[in-house]
Amino acid sequence: MLACALCAAATGQAETGQDAWLRYARLQPAAAERYRALPATTLSLSNTIILGTAQAELVRGVKGMLGKTLRIAVGAPTESAIVIGTVRQLRNIAPALNIVEGLHGDAFWLTAGEVRGFHCIIITGATDRGVLYGVFAFLSRIARQENVFRLNELQKPSASIRWANQWANLDGTIERGYAGRSIFFENGNARPDLTRVSEYARLLASVGINGCSVNNVNADPHILDPDFIPQLARIAEAFRPWGVQLGIAVDLSLPKTGGGLDTFDPLDIRVANWWQKKFDEVYRAIPNFGGVVVKADSEGRLGPSLYGRTPADAANVIARTLKPHGGIVFYRAFVYNHHLDWTNLKNDRAKAAYDVFHPLDGKFDDNVIIQIKYGPIDFQVREPVSPLFGGLPHTNTGIELQITQEYTGQQRHTCFLVPMWKEILDFDLRVNGRSTDVKRIVAGESFHRPLGGYIGVVNVGLDQNWLGNHLAMANLYGFGRLAWNPSLTAKAIVDEWTTLTFGNDPVVVQTISRIQLASWKAYESYTGVLGLHTLTNILGSHYGPAPESQEHNGWGQWIRADAHEVGIDRTVATGTGFVGQYSSDVRNTCESLANTPDDLLLFFHHVPYTYKLHSGKTVIQTIYDSHYAGADKTKQFVSQWKTLNGHVDDDRFQDVLAQLTYQSGHAIVWRDAINDWFHKISGITDANGRVGNHPHRIEAESMELQGYIPFDVTPWEGASGGRAVVCVQISQSCIAKYRFAGPKGWYDIDVEYFDQNNGVSKYQVFSGNQMVDEWLADSSLPATEPNGDSATRRHITGVALRPGDVLRIEGFPDAAEAAPFDYVEIYPERARP
Ligand code: GCU
Repeated sequence: MLACALCAAATGQAETGQDAWLRYARLQPAAAERYRALPATTLSLSNTIILGTAQAELVRGVKGMLGKTLRIAVGAPTESAIVIGTVRQLRNIAPALNIVEGLHGDAFWLTAGEVRGFHCIIITGATDRGVLYGVFAFLSRIARQENVFRLNELQKPSASIRWANQWANLDGTIERGYAGRSIFFENGNARPDLTRVSEYARLLASVGINGCSVNNVNADPHILDPDFIPQLARIAEAFRPWGVQLGIAVDLSLPKTGGGLDTFDPLDIRVANWWQKKFDEVYRAIPNFGGVVVKADSEGRLGPSLYGRTPADAANVIARTLKPHGGIVFYRAFVYNHHLDWTNLKNDRAKAAYDVFHPLDGKFDDNVIIQIKYGPIDFQVREPVSPLFGGLPHTNTGIELQITQEYTGQQRHTCFLVPMWKEILDFDLRVNGRSTDVKRIVAGESFHRPLGGYIGVVNVGLDQNWLGNHLAMANLYGFGRLAWNPSLTAKAIVDEWTTLTFGNDPVVVQTISRIQLASWKAYESYTGVLGLHTLTNILGSHYGPAPESQEHNGWGQWIRADAHEVGIDRTVATGTGFVGQYSSDVRNTCESLANTPDDLLLFFHHVPYTYKLHSGKTVIQTIYDSHYAGADKTKQFVSQWKTLNGHVDDDRFQDVLAQLTYQSGHAIVWRDAINDWFHKISGITDANGRVGNHPHRIEAESMELQGYIPFDVTPWEGASGGRAVVCVQISQSCIAKYRFAGPKGWYDIDVEYFDQNNGVSKYQVFSGNQMVDEWLADSSLPATEPNGDSATRRHITGVALRPGDVLRIEGFPDAAEAAPFDYVEIYPERARP
């Protein structure tokens, strides 16, 4: 593999991540030799646009991996070939071929057989799109060095709906996007150059995603303007060769706010006519338009409740206009009141979706899908399965998963979500005492529904590697693979992804898979355990630690922590009654404290901090210990990654090293913030003596300051001891000094500083007169203040110190960033706490 890394370097190809898992990297000669017998020609049985794409992809892949250019032919074979075409075309040309049963929809079949007397490899499907998926599967086999000659592989997707949602705004920004600006829009228009859109569609198609809604669910009214529809048509054209249908999010109030009517009441005939006319216009421009996503009566968006109408009334009025064209309405179940009275212990946001939608079961038209977030709150690091999946047996449902890591580290933290999604999909809701796991409900199987499936909120951006973090791309890949086949294991998915993305070296595959598979639980351990949500700032960034923000407001993400107890009582007997929304089997588990699994305990119950879990540990000690264990785990990710030096290309090696290093520093910020907060509120000391006790730490405010002054950080838990230091004057540098008193030796030094996005301060660290490190605070974290979002750790290794040495931090402020820092930790080399 070292040789391979060198050969990438020799050809000068920078690995930017833009090709993601479709790199088609050249196989080693010995591996390529296995494919020597591959036919030299690819024959397409027809010249449709999607088959053209499939054939070009085959040529591209084989050229990249094997260095050979396949001859292109269309029509009938004159020699042995890789034949691509639909089953119907195949039957015409090879009537004697025994074709497998069950090729419907997007399914494909990879096989080998005689076509007009020539031995061929055959890639076929019921539709052109199925064939395209088959081509990607075939190429993936070569990339993973599997056999392609004796194939008889039939693959069918688990569900017909496998959609991406992009929350792009027309001005080019992206709601909850962490990888640059939109690939679709800029300055109120579709981008003139849609190359990245085509490339994105290729990525989506390669994992079987067949639709994509492109704009924010908080929809801009201009999306359906007459002069915008042709722009949407251009995006649809970029998608079309890849079999991806275009969708858009629409605002239900549009007939009134932008359509010239005095109402948007869905039962008003003028409103129905307005939608009809609008979508006739859309279908004239985009004949394969896929459908619309609707967010209504939610977080300030207007909805049918204004007129006393139901979501079914609203969904159906649009669904009827789409029906003749095969379009679908995705009506989101994310409907709740964000002005709840937090003082009322019976109030519970988690109940909202079921309360609103369950009574409407059976009232939605057949081309409506209720799009349900996996949990009853909002994409938290751990939630129970939304009970609504079990509450709509006569309605089509789809599960909404979040690839963009809004509450799971915003792609600055590695958090591979497939294991979490699998727990959700495998969960058995036991509706009517029968086995009804979520994956079979959304596939339409459990309740015999015609439609259903998977919707992933992706939010790729213009950053070269799409999500701003190489490892995060495993979530997009994993989403597609799970939507296709939810029975795949997380390990199988990540091994596949790693091999395609980083190559076949077993050391690479094992190491990266290990990091990925451990990352969700690690993230959970340092951000919010026992079902406590991600304890982040829910009123702003949704990024760093800020547990207090959950409480005492109308948003309903409460954890109800007081001096003695924590958690929400959601039982039927004494709590909010949320548990009653599940079937009796599930209810029996969650209603009882003794039966509730530890990792969701505080989601369902309000208990004393001293309550003992199944593990035998108290709640409070579990909180403390988990946060230490989680932060430690991220430190291991860094050392595990370092073993790959020379095994993966240098570009991505360095990118991921920087990202994991940052994560391991921020995990310490999380650890301390959450533990300090619970320590303060509960008054219970850590049995292991770590919380609030940092022997190597020197608080900045306790150092000798010149030009620096103490600063109270808000919320206080975002800084050690609640305080940091900032420069008094932006125009002048400032200094903090500390006289070292420990024994002579080699030390590592960590500086905890704040990297705001409104300035680029410079920091220099001196031991005596010698500068030991210097850096710029130039990343774009979501903060304009020193707090838990901006807190960042600089790790300086191998500094020689003697008693009496003066350690000096010099800060150079810039713009609105006053070179803030929190503390320094000095510890003997390799003894990093
Ligand atoms: C979250 C997210 C919002 C988004 C909303 C939704 O609350 O923070 O930005 O609009 O989900 O899914 O509609």
